[in-house]
Amino acid sequence: MPTDFSEAPEFRGVVALDGPSGTGKSTVARLLARRLHAQYLDTGAMYRAATVAVLRAGVDLNDPAAVAAEVATSRIDVGTDPEHRSTRLNGTDVEREIRTAATTAAVSAVSAVPDVRTQLVAQQRLIIGRAPTVAEGRDIGSVVWPDAELKVYLTAREDVRARRRAGELGSLHSDDVDRIAQSLRRRDAFDSSRAASPLRRPDGATEVDTSDLAIDEVVELLAELAFRAISAADRA
Ligand code: DC
Repeated sequence: MPTDFSEAPEFRGVVALDGPSGTGKSTVARLLARRLHAQYLDTGAMYRAATVAVLRAGVDLNDPAAVAAEVATSRIDVGTDPEHRSTRLNGTDVEREIRTAATTAAVSAVSAVPDVRTQLVAQQRLIIGRAPTVAEGRDIGSVVWPDAELKVYLTAREDVRARRRAGELGSLHSDDVDRIAQSLRRRDAFDSSRAASPLRRPDGATEVDTSDLAIDEVVELLAELAFRAISAADRA
């Protein structure tokens, strides 16, 4: 199997990367997009920006109609350059605010509202339709872009995911890791059991367990799968 892609064709398709948090999804998606010279779409950042809008407006998270109405009047722009993450809400930078504990605690409730998903999925499809893309999220291969040339579902053992998340947050104390494991479990359970586009492995997705792989190894594997997928599509 070739690992030197200097002779490889240009990647012209879409890679759908789904899975729970702490699997290395965001880092892998960005490095893979760079490798494939594709744009990068972080759909989680869009749900997070929508959550910032809802929290700022003081909207009741238990009122789906009010949540959806607030999102409908908000302008969310996510950058697609894999070298530089950027998220804007109504023209202002919210890249830091979308990753705070308060936003993370509320995002599952906002992303479970069907009308919020309809709005953001429409916007995601417009972005993906513009150019070759690596898109990451929970429903890319199942709902947003089911015809993706490559669908991947990333997983990792829970202890590994909690340690990775703790590392991202700058703390590896065992109490913090336990607390993070608990909150990951809660968020995954919520995201997997909601009625609208629950987190699940999409049909036709290749499952990759990243627990014992380095990020570079995952990127290498997915780049090979992506190039094989487009040459198979070319032959068809
Ligand atoms: O990937 P992330 O942790 O930034 O995602 C934040 C939340 O948004 C997560 O709890 C699930 C939700 N989400 C979603 O429902 N659908 C997506 N395509 C992406 C994220």
